[in-house]
Amino acid sequence: MAATPSYWDYLKLDTLLDLQSGLDPNEDNLLPDELHFIIVHQVYELWFKLVIRSVRLGRDELSKPTVAEEIIPKVVHHLRRISAILSICVDQFEVMETLTPQDFLAFRDKLIPSSGFQSFQMRELEILMGLDESQRIKYGEINPLEHIKKMGGKTPAGTLAWDRIVQARSEGSLLGALNEWLYRTPIQGSQPDDDNDEQVVNDFLESYMAAAHEHHSQGLERLVAALGEDRRATLEDRVTGSRDHARRFLFAEDVKDEDRERIRRIRASVLFIESYRELPLLAWPRLLLDMIVQTEQQFLLFRNRHVRMVERIIGRRTGTGGSEGVGYLDKTLSYRVFVDLWAIRTALLPTYALPELKNPELYGFADG
Ligand code: HEM
Repeated sequence: MAATPSYWDYLKLDTLLDLQSGLDPNEDNLLPDELHFIIVHQVYELWFKLVIRSVRLGRDELSKPTVAEEIIPKVVHHLRRISAILSICVDQFEVMETLTPQDFLAFRDKLIPSSGFQSFQMRELEILMGLDESQRIKYGEINPLEHIKKMGGKTPAGTLAWDRIVQARSEGSLLGALNEWLYRTPIQGSQPDDDNDEQVVNDFLESYMAAAHEHHSQGLERLVAALGEDRRATLEDRVTGSRDHARRFLFAEDVKDEDRERIRRIRASVLFIESYRELPLLAWPRLLLDMIVQTEQQFLLFRNRHVRMVERIIGRRTGTGGSEGVGYLDKTLSYRVFVDLWAIRTALLPTYALPELKNPELYGFADG
């Protein structure tokens, strides 16, 4: 007969509570601040474990061949968990900051060259979310992934580190699944395999740009009236420049010829969902996009909060991992996975200025 379950056996507390001794076989030999340092990191790694699992679950739901309306709430559910965990991770740095610079210096040197830089779970997370490798910031001449490959393999944990990165790289990403789904999203009622879909998409984008022209012209006049006629030329340049930029982006003129039509449809879908977000049938799609942006925003806040905590504790000295420290970490704040979802915001119009919606009945509006 199976033993009666207990809290301590279920959570394997004997093992869990015996894992905080760091490099010393005996935890009692550690300074109290080092125990604090180890526990805070381990708690983060446990949260990362759950976030990775949730990213995979969300990606798998979104990758199902036809994404029925029932599936999106499930993806949103996973994203909500990720976002809630990351929000806790942001706040948790406050606990780390009870470590003074001197407290840390008392044991810091023995950590060299280990570093959060080797958090393979963070790298898995970036890969599974879909971070484009071309965005990765090197430190010195070292690529963060190559670093793990080079340093791993010497211990069981190091072997696990590289194996997990190889595994993550062999899988599809959340970004890939999202783009697939966006590609299939109906625009003005048209689907990608409809005969004249390309025309419908182009007409939608052209009508949007015409509405943007009208809206921006009115905004320009207001600016000139407020700031003075002598500023007209400069302001006109600025407004036209940002409109031209929006056009290049929406028509995907910044991507290779062979990818243009597909990327244009994906971006048009984002624009469509974001713009007509009040339509009943776009309620879940827009929530999905909102949650993805919120999740990525939490990631950015995590990176930002981490680097400000690092600056407070070690200033601008070289990191234990050998990077330039705060200088390197500040550069990683430029990482964006869901680039299009951020970029589209520059092109959005207020609801009253939107072009007319075609086929509103298809989106749950009986009277248009
Ligand atoms: C006293 C506390 C901490 C200090 C001084 C610190 C410092 C640093 C520094 C300087 C780096 C850059 C790499 C290097 O040269 O070492 C780094 C990277 C990193 N740290 Fe921390 N860290 C601290 C706590 C934490 C905590 C609690 C976490 C939670 C998981 C964390 C996660 C990371 C991650 C994921 C990276 C890699 C960032 C990237 O390459 O994008 N660190 N840390």
